[in-house]
Amino acid sequence: MIIAIDGPAASGKGTLAKRIAAHFGLAWLDTGLLYRAVARDVLAAGGDLEDVQAATAAAKSVNADSLDDSALRGPRAGDAASIVAKIPEVRAALLEYQRAFARQAGGAVLDGRDIGTVVCPDAPVKIFVTASDEARAMRRFLEHQSRGDSITYDELLADIRKRDARDRGRSAAPMHAADDAVHLDTTALDADQAFAAALRLIELASNKC
Ligand code: CDP
Ligand code: CDP
Repeated sequence: MIIAIDGPAASGKGTLAKRIAAHFGLAWLDTGLLYRAVARDVLAAGGDLEDVQAATAAAKSVNADSLDDSALRGPRAGDAASIVAKIPEVRAALLEYQRAFARQAGGAVLDGRDIGTVVCPDAPVKIFVTASDEARAMRRFLEHQSRGDSITYDELLADIRKRDARDRGRSAAPMHAADDAVHLDTTALDADQAFAAALRLIELASNKC
């Protein structure tokens, strides 16, 4: 069983993927962390995020241990991640890690931007999660507020829009829904309702297989 979940920033795909994985007893990989870790490692070595050689070398050395870092979660790390994510060599270097994860015995849920289109095009269940820009910025704002961060709603909205445009517009594995993905608009849903809706979609997709 492989479940592919894609969608733009703060659409709730990570929260959903984690819950689906727990529900079905599947492993879960947040593939955004891989790109965030590559950007972190390039910057830590004093490199430039657009430097193909430096970013590719960082991508080749990413492993499960690289991902356990709370510094990867912030908006600056997300923005930096979307710069290295444009580089085809970086994407290629991360592909095998993601595919090996997806193929593990017992099955897996992966969330990102290109899981249904590139990483696992044969996944039997693909969900493309969306929500309005404003709803997504508000979700991030509430997260930051609860941690006492001073970032504003407007800054988060601008960050989300800039990153979405970069992710949609790049030539290497641009973010888009696979032809056979089901769309889940969570603008008016809370996390519990989104989870319930996703379970119904998974059930429908499984009946079709
Ligand atoms: O992984 P992605 O960036 O798409 O989103 P996330 O990290 O799962 O963050 C979504 C945030 O919105 C979390 O704080 C969730 O509690 C909240 N949320 C959600 O996940 N789903 C909804 N339908 C509504 C809110
Ligand atoms: O959680 P959020 O949606 O804000 O970001 P993320 O999933 O951690 O992804 C960070 C960045 O990594 C994205 O903006 C993409 O540029 C890139 N990414 C990608 O290109 N392909 C993936 N499968 C996952 C992330």
